[in-house]
Parts: sequence; C-alpha cells; structure tokens
Amino acid sequence: MADDAPRSPRLSRKQLLRAAAVALPATAIAGVAVPALADPARRDTARTLDPTPQCTDGDETPEQIEGPYFKPNSPLRTSLREPGLPGTLLTASGYVFGRTCQPLAGVLLDWWQADDDGAYDMTGFRLRGHQLSGDDGSYHLETIVPGLYPGRTRHLHVKLQAPGEPVLTTQLYFPGEPRNSTDSIFDARLLMTMRTSGDEREGTFDFVLDVTGGGSPAPTPTGTSQPGGTWTEGASYQVGDVVTYAGGQYRCRQAHTAFAGWEPPNVPALWQQL
Ligand SMILES: [Fe+2]
Repeated sequence: MADDAPRSPRLSRKQLLRAAAVALPATAIAGVAVPALADPARRDTARTLDPTPQCTDGDETPEQIEGPYFKPNSPLRTSLREPGLPGTLLTASGYVFGRTCQPLAGVLLDWWQADDDGAYDMTGFRLRGHQLSGDDGSYHLETIVPGLYPGRTRHLHVKLQAPGEPVLTTQLYFPGEPRNSTDSIFDARLLMTMRTSGDEREGTFDFVLDVTGGGSPAPTPTGTSQPGGTWTEGASYQVGDVVTYAGGQYRCRQAHTAFAGWEPPNVPALWQQL
C-alpha cells in the first residue's frame, strides 16, 4: 500500500465526521448532530482532533460543470465493471453529509465517466450508474480508473440529490495527475484521497451538501389527508412506469426501488410530472 496524497496535519470537519461515522453504528449516528468523540476508548484519536462543532467552516462540496456527456436514466447499480472492460480497477467510497453535520441517507448519486481510452458511451450506459447512500450516509462505487481525453485531467462525474433537494453536479479528481495543474476546471477541493491495494486503486471522498437535515430520508409532505395514488413504498419501478400520487401523475425517469422520502414530488430526478 502506498498513499499518493499527503495527509493534512489538521483534520477537517469532513475527516472528523468520517472518523465518527466509521466508529459509530448507523443507529447512533442518525440522531447525533455532531458525533461525539469523548469515548475513552478513542481518547488518543480525539486528542489529536481540532473539533469544529458548529460546522461553519464552509466545506460544502463545490459545484462543477456537467459537461457534454451526461445521460439521464442510468441503471441502478454500485458496480460499473463489466466482463472484459479494460482498465485499472478503482473503488470510490465515502459518506454524504448535510450542512448540519449529519450523514444523509437516501441521497441519489448518479455517476458517469470515460473509459480506459478516454471515451464516453453515448449510445448505451457503459460506465454509468446511480445508487443511493445508505442509512449511515455511505456510498461505494466499483469501477475503473477513467482514461484521459483532450483538454481534461483525470476525473469522475457525479450528480447528488438528497430527497426533495436541488441537484449538486460535481466532479472528483485524482492527486498527482500531471494535468491537474493545466486543467482550468480542476478544483483541488475535489481531490480524492487515494491509495493502492493490490491491483486496485482506492479513492475516498466525503461529500457535504448544502442542505439541512440528515440521518433519514426527508419526511413525506404533510397534509390534511392521505395523499393517495398508486405509488407504493417498496415497489420496484422501471423507466416509463406511470403512477399517481397526491392527485398528480408521474412517469419514472430512472429505475429504482421506492422508499419513504422518495415520493414522486420529492425526487424530480426519478419522477417526471405529467
Ligand atoms: Fe468528463
């Protein structure tokens, strides 16, 4: 194993949150605004931290341009690898947090990237896929290292959307890339922390979305009566399926499994109102 990125002597809020998220069970995280590190068993770790309990250090994940290669309706999957697909194996993982320092569950992460030759698949969905963050805010993507293409340094594209919140479009970068210094879009705040494990490259990055709340999907909008309709929590929907909800009609834009917080009005990335 070898780290490529120098480690900062001062832990950022994201690193603090990450350490706590890894140490605590999801059920404990869900209701804790700022994970405590007072446990004597972790005293040595806590002593080295520079706590930022108010979460005011402004490290929300920066937005980046979408570029010309995004396609909607990517498949729901955490692995973009396919038999025979050339390239160096890559995993990208981490957590999604909200502005209030809580892990965000049920965040849609829609990934797309170039292949080993630097080409995007514009006819199918090779190296495209979306997933939802877990109850602890975690995500995990299995893919390959994207190839280079003219004008850009090496990067992954991703769109993130918490239930009922705006979409954040951004990109992730690789430390030590020669083109990082010449790519005008490159942003060092979006560098993954990389290491090599056997034949695989492992990147980690924690997203911080400019939304409040966290720990569980957004509640169903309240009203004086049950919304009604054919939309059903737990059902699997395919592209083109049409449902009704709260008097509206919606067409499925991306295949997914429905769960609380993902009612059609909350997730325009998944449902198009008709
Ligand atoms: Fe790109």
